[in-house]
Amino acid sequence: MIKVEGLTKRYARNVAVDNISFEVEKGQIVGFLGPNGAGKTTTMRVLTCFLPPTEGKAQVAGFDVMTQAMEVKRRIGYLPETPPLYPEMEVSEYIEFVGRLKGLPRAGLLKRVDEVCERCNVADVKSKLISKLSKGYRQRVGLASAIIHNPDVLILDEPTAGLDPEQRRETLSLIKELAGEHTIILSTHILPEVEQTCQRVIIISKGKLVATDTVENLNSRLRGAELVAVEVEPRNGHLAQEVVQQKLEQVPGVSRVLFREQRNSRLLFEVESLQGRSIRGDLARAVVQADWNLTELHPIGLSLEEIFIQLTSSTEKGGSK
Ligand SMILES: Nc1ncnc2c1ncn2[C@@H]1O[C@H](COP(=O)(O)OP(=O)(O)OP(=O)(O)O)[C@@H](O)[C@H]1O
Ligand SMILES: [Mg+2]
Repeated sequence: MIKVEGLTKRYARNVAVDNISFEVEKGQIVGFLGPNGAGKTTTMRVLTCFLPPTEGKAQVAGFDVMTQAMEVKRRIGYLPETPPLYPEMEVSEYIEFVGRLKGLPRAGLLKRVDEVCERCNVADVKSKLISKLSKGYRQRVGLASAIIHNPDVLILDEPTAGLDPEQRRETLSLIKELAGEHTIILSTHILPEVEQTCQRVIIISKGKLVATDTVENLNSRLRGAELVAVEVEPRNGHLAQEVVQQKLEQVPGVSRVLFREQRNSRLLFEVESLQGRSIRGDLARAVVQADWNLTELHPIGLSLEEIFIQLTSSTEKGGSK
């Protein structure tokens, strides 16, 4: 549904987007992830025909953003970083106005406005002035106007920025509901949002694509190493943290041992293996041979956040700011 090939966007000598390629399949919801200045908004503006690319190609629903902009715009709903709402308009009036801008026929437009208001949970504020709405409601109005023409593709630029946790949760669940009918790209720098909402993630940093994969694949692909939680208890008496730490560090394949906490007489550690090494068996044996009780031993997944930091910090050289 979306195909980007070798896309580059330069502002004067500043490379905002540097030769990125990715595809998004129909009905998917994809998280577009990257730190400030990574090039997320720039890429989205190219996809929505607001900016011409310097090099490369982008297609939406089979239409080229450069040569077939009208066709592309018809199929895209765009929620910019700051939605251009008119504060002096009433909610339904504004959505109707956007519908007319999109060229929807007058007949049936009011019915459609009602539909999207229901869909985006703004039916109860339909006749309120936009200036009187909370930020969360404004964001929903932005969404409602983005889907008024029932576009195939939704491009949402930081749809949860500035929302409180409750509003954020509601907005994300609404977006999730819209996936399936619509193909969605949403940008964010909040990682748990991507884990909760998206099937796939595209990570960019300093204009360069650093990863594109499913959330699960990213988790396993990037980590050949194992992270294991180990809890040890003395059979009797007291057990010094350093003694256990040393013992665990001596286990073959272990790269790092971190003391986490003490719970009564039990000591909890996090142990990381060298790349490609499995250490759980040897850890268990070492504890038992030392005549301690092994009260816990289980793998811990590395969070997407840690992966994100690993990935984006390895592109430090980049061109733009
Ligand atoms: N109109 C412009 N003129 C010149 N440089 C620009 C312009 N817009 C963006 N840039 C630069 O392009 C780079 C990418 O910016 P972009 O807004 O796409 O990043 P972003 O990932 O959306 O960041 P954020 O998370 O802060 O919204 C930045 O270095 C930015 O300074
Ligand atoms: Mg941005």
